[in-house]
Amino acid sequence: MTATVIDGKAFAATVREKVGTHVSRLKDEHGITPGLAVVLVGEDPASQVYVRSKGKMTVEVGMNSMEHKLDVDTSEADLLALIAQLNADPSVHGILVQLPLPDHLDSDLVINSIDPAKDVDGFHISNVGLLGTGQKSMVPCTPLGCLMMLRDHHGSLSGLNAVVIGRSNIVGKPMANLLLGDSCTVTIAHSRTKDLQGVVSQADIVVAAVGRPEMVLGDWIKKGATVIDVGINRIERDGKNKLVGDVDYDSCVAVAGAITPVPGGVGPMTIACLLANTITACCRANGLPEPDGLTA
Ligand code: GUN
Repeated sequence: MTATVIDGKAFAATVREKVGTHVSRLKDEHGITPGLAVVLVGEDPASQVYVRSKGKMTVEVGMNSMEHKLDVDTSEADLLALIAQLNADPSVHGILVQLPLPDHLDSDLVINSIDPAKDVDGFHISNVGLLGTGQKSMVPCTPLGCLMMLRDHHGSLSGLNAVVIGRSNIVGKPMANLLLGDSCTVTIAHSRTKDLQGVVSQADIVVAAVGRPEMVLGDWIKKGATVIDVGINRIERDGKNKLVGDVDYDSCVAVAGAITPVPGGVGPMTIACLLANTITACCRANGLPEPDGLTA
């Protein structure tokens, strides 16, 4: 038996479709067009690709996309002034500052200057605290996408053993909080964990977000477990560039019950969830009910 392959690309398309339907409703019934502002400082090529892709998909679902591209040597004061302007602009419902920022800018200070209600990345310290205490918050996009796929596959996650490998603020920690919120028994493992294989082998759900190519092997995985691979690692193999996850797909697909591929798994869900968060923020800002199934 090989695992069910969870098709993140198809799932993300259904999320975007749902978002698009709600955008139409907001426009037709309330005269509101949700707006997402993305701020990019500098010319990091990977960030430019992400920002272009975000802008394109924002427009495709019918939202307004505002892109602010700033010079690499933009001062912190100028960046904070732009964020203050976006915070005050009622046509802007979501604000995303693309990371990483150039070294001379303090990312924590910048992120924490965003109005938490418009923080569609869910990185503001208020949103981190709200999520950690089980209150309504903006939820980081990648973990939200993983949660949506897990709920879709399992129905209820209650009582399942979940192991999150990786303790980043962007994925590992919020993922663990979301799984706790769905009543999983959660272990956060990381690069220093003793007997990582032994820990992973207990899991009904494995979320790998450690940033090490193909680290999780098939003989670590409990038979029938669900494996969510957040890793995106570029490696060279047989003289060719290849994109691989943190999971050794070929050995894990033979043991797991379900698995996300790389590419085409978690990746496409991140932008879909950014759009979902923008709708959520827009509805909350206008005192309107939030669409079902697009938040945690
Ligand atoms: N850079 C890479 N991923 C992300 C993300 O999810 N949000 C932001 N703001 N920057 C990123």
